Amino acid sequence: MTVYAIIGGSGLTRLEGLQIRQSLALDTPYGAPSAEVQIGEYAGSEVLFLARHGHPHRFAPHRVNYRANLWALKQAGAEAILAVNAVGGINGAMGTGHFCVPHQLIDYTSGREHSYFADDLEPVTHIDFTYPYSESLRQRLIAALVVEGAGFSDRGVYACMQGPRLETAAEILRLERDGCDIVGMTGMPEAALARELQLDYACLALVVNPAAGKSASVISMTEIERALGEGMVRVRSTLARVLRAD
Ligand code: HPA
Repeated sequence: MTVYAIIGGSGLTRLEGLQIRQSLALDTPYGAPSAEVQIGEYAGSEVLFLARHGHPHRFAPHRVNYRANLWALKQAGAEAILAVNAVGGINGAMGTGHFCVPHQLIDYTSGREHSYFADDLEPVTHIDFTYPYSESLRQRLIAALVVEGAGFSDRGVYACMQGPRLETAAEILRLERDGCDIVGMTGMPEAALARELQLDYACLALVVNPAAGKSASVISMTEIERALGEGMVRVRSTLARVLRAD
């Protein structure tokens, strides 16, 4: 059976319902991960959990040590990663509360440690990244969302912005012209690092606000936090369905 790891983003710094058996404070050649890797039982399956931003939420998206996080999960035995990401909706069909299982991404970040092959210690390896997400994992998430009865899109292009500020309306228009459907700050380099470590990886994105300029008002943190709180109930049960189906 596949050993899954869940990476929880904003709103999911703890996986409620996880019966923790072990909490590992791991060190890696890249430094410490954002938090302890928790190992335990969730929905009847053995699963690993890591809070991407730490617990409590400590690391802004551009400060997350993505290399340490993925390395620690691999070290702890993970084979496949289910990443949970809060996003803004660019595509009009993807309003607040909507889920998206992206099939593609565009990386607009800069200055992040984005590869394990970045220094002289390793021969540089050019991973194939034509399809950044594992299709079989995506299909598992999609099947779970169907049963869940949630509003969702089974494909979409994820734009990863540097943050931590939100975008300007003009930036969102540009992302839209580029073909992006949703926008977040944490999808990269996480997905690429997982590929470098040969870990299957897919993303469950929850829309928590209309992207900048896509609604009549400016974006408020209160609105985002409310949507996160409401959406996480469904995130947890969708994850449970994926694990139970395995
Ligand atoms: N932009 C970028 N990242 C986000 C957003 C957004 O509108 N909402 C949640 N994460």
